[in-house]
Amino acid sequence: MSIIKPIIWTGSSLKLLDQTCLPATERYVECYSGKEVVAAIKNLVVRGAPAIGVAAAFGLALSAQKVATKDELWKHLHTVARDLLRSRPTAVNLFWAVKRITSLEKNISHLDLADQVEAIAKGAEKIYQEDIENNKKIGEKGAKLLPDKANILTHCNAGALATAGFGTALGVIRAAHQAGKKIHVFVDETRPVLQGSRLTAWELCQEGIDATLITDNCAGFLMKQKKIDFVIVGADRIAANGDVANKIGTYSLAVLAKEHNIPFIVAAPLSTIDFETNSGDNIVLEERSEEEIKKISGIQIAPEKIKAYNISFDITPAKYITFLVTEKKVISCVNEISLSSLKN
Ligand code: MRU
Repeated sequence: MSIIKPIIWTGSSLKLLDQTCLPATERYVECYSGKEVVAAIKNLVVRGAPAIGVAAAFGLALSAQKVATKDELWKHLHTVARDLLRSRPTAVNLFWAVKRITSLEKNISHLDLADQVEAIAKGAEKIYQEDIENNKKIGEKGAKLLPDKANILTHCNAGALATAGFGTALGVIRAAHQAGKKIHVFVDETRPVLQGSRLTAWELCQEGIDATLITDNCAGFLMKQKKIDFVIVGADRIAANGDVANKIGTYSLAVLAKEHNIPFIVAAPLSTIDFETNSGDNIVLEERSEEEIKKISGIQIAPEKIKAYNISFDITPAKYITFLVTEKKVISCVNEISLSSLKN
């Protein structure tokens, strides 16, 4: 099990391990309202597709606790839900988790306020628990794809920090390491906000997994030198045809991996699959502030006047994906037909 606890539910507050401060400072931001959770998601205090879904569910649980009368409950929750859904557009887990909580309304609205509030908190806790269990299953299934010794490249952070715990891409790596496989990880820095060097590198150091940090533009040459055996990444949204939205830079890695005959693995829970979106072309990709590119830790690193384009995610077409690892099964030929076998 991972020792990292990115999300802690106390029953009356939500503690989020502040991912904007890692690795220098380990501190929790404590949220007491849905509004505070919305801000934490926008500011990347909590980030990673499954983690923001889990946080959003608890945000609704906190909002429910603030309501004074039964009549106000669902009107208030739908307002908070709308704000949560506007916080970040790409990761579908956020939409999935908010829908799962708001759809409780039809089954519980006849109950007393206190019982509804409790049922909503239980619903959020269930999403949290399921996410950890699913990650472990993903880890087990994914680890079986790896030989006893492997050099793996990963991008961004798809680890314990990006989920309720354990991780998806890093879950596979963690499980392989725990199974005694000799795993070495190349960690992409992941510009502009450095989820690789700040978060993935921190996680791997915490758990004693052998790792080397590289710049984002290093991967191609390492592949050419045969230093990378697998690429493993997470996903923010997978369209019904298998196209994957993930951190900007993922597409370049997939194309490079294909050129060098390196298996490209995507590890993600079923809650990341959006069967309502037919192709990656229709996934909304978040564009974040220019400042994230023009400054590092508040220090200006580019002329103030220069324009910057900060597209946060890209789309990797399904044809580049060698394996999609989910908690249910591993898919080796990723397309609309194979993905439909993952529907309930
Ligand atoms: O902008 P972020 O840090 O939220 O982006 C996260 C990623 O792109 C992850 O790779 C993805 O959410 C998978 S997390 C298990």
